[in-house]
Amino acid sequence: MHLEYQSGFGNEFASEALPGALPVGQNSPQKAPYGLYTELFSGTAFTMVRSEARRTWLYRIQPSANHPAFVKLERQLAGGPLGAVTPNRLRWNPLDIPAEATDFIDGLVGMVANSGSENPSGISIYNYRANRSMERVFFNADGELLIVPEQGRLRIATELGVLEVAPLEIVVLPRGLKFRVELLDAQARGYVAENHGAPLRLPDLGPIGSNGLANPRDFLTPVAHYEDHKKPTTLVQKFLGELWACELDHSPLNVVAWHGNNVPYKYDLRRFNTLGTVSFDHPDPSIFTVLTSPTSVHGLANLDFVIFPPRWMVAENTFRPPWFHRNLMNEYMGLIQGAYDAKAEGFLPGGASLHSCMSAHGPDGETCTKAINVELAPHKIDNTMAFMFETSQVLRPTQFALECPQLQPSYDACWASLPATFNPNRR
Ligand SMILES: [Fe+2]
Repeated sequence: MHLEYQSGFGNEFASEALPGALPVGQNSPQKAPYGLYTELFSGTAFTMVRSEARRTWLYRIQPSANHPAFVKLERQLAGGPLGAVTPNRLRWNPLDIPAEATDFIDGLVGMVANSGSENPSGISIYNYRANRSMERVFFNADGELLIVPEQGRLRIATELGVLEVAPLEIVVLPRGLKFRVELLDAQARGYVAENHGAPLRLPDLGPIGSNGLANPRDFLTPVAHYEDHKKPTTLVQKFLGELWACELDHSPLNVVAWHGNNVPYKYDLRRFNTLGTVSFDHPDPSIFTVLTSPTSVHGLANLDFVIFPPRWMVAENTFRPPWFHRNLMNEYMGLIQGAYDAKAEGFLPGGASLHSCMSAHGPDGETCTKAINVELAPHKIDNTMAFMFETSQVLRPTQFALECPQLQPSYDACWASLPATFNPNRR
């Protein structure tokens, strides 16, 4: 199957898999073309201001309402309930790929969260690992999903069409969108941010101007593609953190045409127009924000998705690594490939770190010593892609995250070797 995409962010997209399947001039005619049913998929409240409103009209073989009762599944998401609160800095080695058959849903492991799914704000963060394609179809009533693959390509069949993503790309699936994740390689691993708050959007650019960072035309939304079969299909949903399922006698990925802006999309992180200093110091890492979910407090994000891509370092007379920092915001970091420029070792692709509100962090001893003493010249940080899920509310680790063998016992030690450089007699 040849994949097609529509380019843009927040557009009123339109797509039909059969010619003339989209009604013209109205959304809900008495009889939709081809005998299709009309269904509205709302991603924001009806009354949301127009600039932030998300909704899509679906023209489908069966309306979603045609399903039996959902029954709670015995096997729930891995990760368990939230564990004890800790102000400590935490870092994890990558999780192993399980030996037993594990699809994307069984492979999701809750790591940290700052809000119950019942709240209209906050995020939950998962790592995923899988070794087989989903046969069931899933939707998440609890939030939008931002998937960051670290290993393995994914084919994601959704109600609105098919997306393929590889490491160094991301995909965003709106709250409630039905989808099936298939593996295009033997195994897959990565990260998921579940956004309970306002849908992700591009950040404002302010004085940067009308171009730069992630450009709208690089976001790709699929075209309509439907499945018309009578194979029994399990439909799973996550509702207030719990998995429920029902059995259908058809595929729920049966949308023949649609139009709207509540859509899945993918983005290649290598297309990020990375900006930085050309004089001295470096800007705050917010200069690397790809997508943001705002709160009602102007400038305070529910979720910022920030990347640390390859880039030139040219700052003169400057401590070039990410500076030492204490942050109001909470930072969950992951690594997609290569090494991160603030850490000499211990932060691996597939691994993660958590720096909670006001927990001090920054380059480790080795990186710091090097940065103070290096002769400064233009230098390219290459073969790297780290990222951060940054959020305004404190993230609590799950019991799993606190007890798993991947939790590093001595993360604090990486700062213990910071050189003693203070000398009151030498300015
Ligand atoms: Fe920081």
